[in-house]
Amino acid sequence: MSDTKSEKIVHGMMAEFTTVDSLLSACRRIRDAGYTKTDAFTPFPVHGIDKALGIKPTVLPWICFFAGITGTCIALTMEIWMNGIDYRYIISGKPFISLPAFIPVAFELTILLASFGAFFGMWALNGLPRFSNPVFTDPRFDRATDDRFFLYIDAKDDRYDAAGVRSLLTDTGSDYINEVVEDDSPKAVPRPIYMIWGAAVAASIIPLLCVLLMRVTNSSQPRFHIFPDMDFSPAKDAQQTTSLFGDNRAMRPDVPGTVARGQLIGSLDVMTGIDVDSLQAMNAPRAERLVAAFMQDDQAAVAEEVTEVATEEEEQAEASVMQTTPWVKENPLTVDQALLSRGQLQFGVYCSVCHGMDGRGNGLVNQRAQERGFDTWVPPSNMHEDTLYSDKYPDGKLFSTISNGIRKMPGYAGQITVQDRWAIVAYVRALQLSQNASLDSVPASRKDEVSQAVESAKKELQRQAEEAAQAAAAREEK
Ligand code: HEC
Repeated sequence: MSDTKSEKIVHGMMAEFTTVDSLLSACRRIRDAGYTKTDAFTPFPVHGIDKALGIKPTVLPWICFFAGITGTCIALTMEIWMNGIDYRYIISGKPFISLPAFIPVAFELTILLASFGAFFGMWALNGLPRFSNPVFTDPRFDRATDDRFFLYIDAKDDRYDAAGVRSLLTDTGSDYINEVVEDDSPKAVPRPIYMIWGAAVAASIIPLLCVLLMRVTNSSQPRFHIFPDMDFSPAKDAQQTTSLFGDNRAMRPDVPGTVARGQLIGSLDVMTGIDVDSLQAMNAPRAERLVAAFMQDDQAAVAEEVTEVATEEEEQAEASVMQTTPWVKENPLTVDQALLSRGQLQFGVYCSVCHGMDGRGNGLVNQRAQERGFDTWVPPSNMHEDTLYSDKYPDGKLFSTISNGIRKMPGYAGQITVQDRWAIVAYVRALQLSQNASLDSVPASRKDEVSQAVESAKKELQRQAEEAAQAAAAREEK
């Protein structure tokens, strides 16, 4: 028995203990006796065992730290070289070398290399990977994961001498001491493992070969789609059917209110506010230029043409306005409640900022301009001037003013549709009427109602005036 053992290489000495305390005191004795290549195996973590065995703190944190620093340096060097030297490119107006912008990559690489350091450092320090450890040859060692505590002294320790170690361990109160010998099972890696490994390497080359093959050959087959995305969305031709929409028509009707380019709305009179037939009779070339500009859908040319009309007017006397341009006299659209409401809305949106909700010319823009005291400011016109009433200022001219602007006021043809411009014209007329109406213009059925309202409003005004007078008198007495 001893013969066979002596032929084998001794690896160390293993002692078994039944309690934590006996293990710890044994550890201390071994440490004090000067052994350093020692280890303890316990079924659960035992506090203070490192100290009892005199194990020095691991160098793993340092490996981790320097691997991390290496990552930071690599990242910063790479970024400074790329962004600051090799390919200088302004990104978001930052300097070429902008440390704040470099942080994400530097951070990522630091973490990556630090975790590699921790992972592979642990393997290296523990001498991993290895198939087996000689301590497993000890028949009772399995209980290290169950209910026994083991202390191990490596034969590589300078002080190791089998007899001395055995007596020392016996002294510590261990009742099972066993010399661990090197594992004598064959060292050669089993053949099946080589075969599996070889097969795996061979299989891993197959995808690469497929890619290489595809790069040098052509195929008439359609592309192999893993994610089809929108590659197969069917395109429909005019007049075809589809199951996608309820009416089975592939061609979709226009969205209501769509205006095609160049689409004429109503007659030229409606579009310009000018009675084109009369203009033709009065000034044929001008009428032709106007029509041509309209046919070409040239907004700027139309505005120019109509403004020219207006300028010519200005050069002539005010009185001749009506004679130089035959304006459309009455709103060509049917003026009803719907049109007026539309006009009110559009006036509120487009005109009231300057002209005010009541049309008196004191909108927010004007108030602001007055406040700032701009001396070049031209105040918006008051719609209640009698020169702007329909007898002197026909609907067509008002329409043209909205469309093409006048003097300091910009044109709104680009923003407001033809219908809405006429709706505004109708609303401006109503606005003007509202400030100058007599009781006669009220329908008979509502006359009573209106005159009552007027009466009570008058009374209210009177009451307010009296109150103000009383207050003034009271103040004077004081
Ligand atoms: C940006 C401010 C502004 C807006 C918005 C504006 N106007 Fe004017 N408007 C003016 C100014 C300023 C004048 C006076 C121009 C001048 O006398 O040089 C004026 C003048 C007028 C006149 C009198 C033109 C004349 O021949 O004397 C009418 C009518 C008029 N605007 C109607 C409208 C209508 C309707 C709208 C809404 C579509 C509108 N304006 C939107 C600023 C504006």
